[in-house]
Amino acid sequence: TIDRSTDSSQTVQVASMFDSMTKRREAARREALSIVVLGASGDLARKKTLPALFSLYYHDLLPSDFYVVGYARSNMTSEAFRNTIKSSLTCRVIEGPECARKMEHFLSRCFYVSGTYHETTAFRTLDEFLVNEFEKERWNRGVPTNRLYYLAIPSNVFAEACRGIAHAHTKPPESTKGWMRVVLEKPFGRDLDTFQTLHQELQLYISEEQTFRIDHYLGKELVQNVLALRFANYFLEPLWNNQHIQSIQVTFKENFGVEGRAGYFDQYGIIRDIMQNHLLQMVALFTMEQPASLNAEDIRDEKVKVLRSLETLRATDFVIGQYMGYREEDGVRPGSKTPTFAACRMNIRNRRWDGVPILVKAGKHLDERLAEVRVTFRSVPGSIFSLANTLPNNELVVRVQPDEAIYLRIVSKSPGLTSRLEEARLTLFYRTAWEEAHDIPDAYERLILDVIYGDKSLFIRSDELKVAWEKFTPALHELEQSDRYRPVPYVAGSRGPAEADYLAARYGCVWA
Ligand code: NDP
Ligand code: BG6
Repeated sequence: TIDRSTDSSQTVQVASMFDSMTKRREAARREALSIVVLGASGDLARKKTLPALFSLYYHDLLPSDFYVVGYARSNMTSEAFRNTIKSSLTCRVIEGPECARKMEHFLSRCFYVSGTYHETTAFRTLDEFLVNEFEKERWNRGVPTNRLYYLAIPSNVFAEACRGIAHAHTKPPESTKGWMRVVLEKPFGRDLDTFQTLHQELQLYISEEQTFRIDHYLGKELVQNVLALRFANYFLEPLWNNQHIQSIQVTFKENFGVEGRAGYFDQYGIIRDIMQNHLLQMVALFTMEQPASLNAEDIRDEKVKVLRSLETLRATDFVIGQYMGYREEDGVRPGSKTPTFAACRMNIRNRRWDGVPILVKAGKHLDERLAEVRVTFRSVPGSIFSLANTLPNNELVVRVQPDEAIYLRIVSKSPGLTSRLEEARLTLFYRTAWEEAHDIPDAYERLILDVIYGDKSLFIRSDELKVAWEKFTPALHELEQSDRYRPVPYVAGSRGPAEADYLAARYGCVWA
């Protein structure tokens, strides 16, 4: 296991970074915050957004003067809303009387307003509620009021919702004017055209500065660590290219199906749900050049640059599959061709990466829940060891979930009076290496906090999305419009279609 010692100069730099962060936080904490969750009756709001807000409150990270207003078409009283969310709130650290007390206090600040997404009058009712119940009184006291709108709704209603928000917004007096920010969930459109139309429409109502496009994988602890791993360590950089790396595998597996979300999933499929966003972001972070600084724009510039060098994907780069039983699920269209599994090969045509197969795989209802990136190095040329060709290649594995870990597979002589070589691992298991790792915040907590502090490093810029859709759209259209491509059925709980193994074999690789 790797030793984690620090030296004092690093500690000083980190301390000054925290100083400025602390100042920003202190300022944000003195202001009042209304958080409006659109689609509050839905799956994401219940499972992720509201629990993340509670957790931030529990850890004293929300501004002390905050309110949460759920908004959706479903008819509900505030009391009923509190009851529906209560069961999904948990205290990450200690359960007990303190947890119950804080939960009650959090719930007492949650309210619900029912309304449609297409009527400005409905948004006026919401706006009046916010102004009359909370904001006006703060304005009178000279306290700035901020508003965070979290759009936990399907992207086909984003535009009308943003129009309602913009048209109904009551401007506070100049002296107490705060910010207004809008968080948008993925997938942002269905293809390049729908993305562009949606983007242009949204620009009429909210500025780029107010827009926070979320990809929750960027909030995951291990994904955040990629920049540090690559650019704060010396040993990787000289090896980080096509001279030394044989392949990169990015894998996402879930051991459950669409679980009541078929209405959404069947319209989008696994490529739009996972690959075009979560996995492509991981590919970008692993392959981009060092950014000029840790500033959000510098990081996003580098991601866009490497994504532009990605060869446009075609249907022939993919294997698609569908788990048996999917078509019988509620909300799935009869005879649906929607893939629940996809594997593909990517190539980045630049000096650093050309020729390195980047194998990306995502599937629902597979044998396990796993998200990881595996960087496989080339085999040792001119090896002096017998049976050298049976030895595993070195591999750097970043396991995003479950059990966050980074490990390096090496070859080592086994101890004792033997010359046998074996595979061994240098492992950094987060949960044993850091006490704090027992309490790793959910990605949504980190990201919502960044919205409150106005930090965009972990959010997606519009040009990033445009290039992502440019690369995926031709393949998506070919796969959907031609009868030549039908998803291969696979048994739920299996490793997915064997065709994915043949795809990897075409590039001399084996899926881990
Ligand atoms: P839901 O299907 O649960 O929809 C959320 C709410 O939106 C519903 O409760 C419903 O509220 C309203 N809604 C649903 N469909 C429509 C429609 N066609 N027109 C108008 N309103 C509609 O979705 P999720 O909560 O699962 O997802 C919301 C967004 O978050 C999606 O963009 C999804 O891609 C994204 N997302 C979801 C994740 C998850 O784990 N669930 C993870 C990451 C992203 P009402 O009828 O009461 O108005
Ligand atoms: C979401 C997808 O973006 O990510 C879901 O819409 C998927 O289909 C989820 O289940 C996976 O997120 P996590 O954080 O549980 O790996």
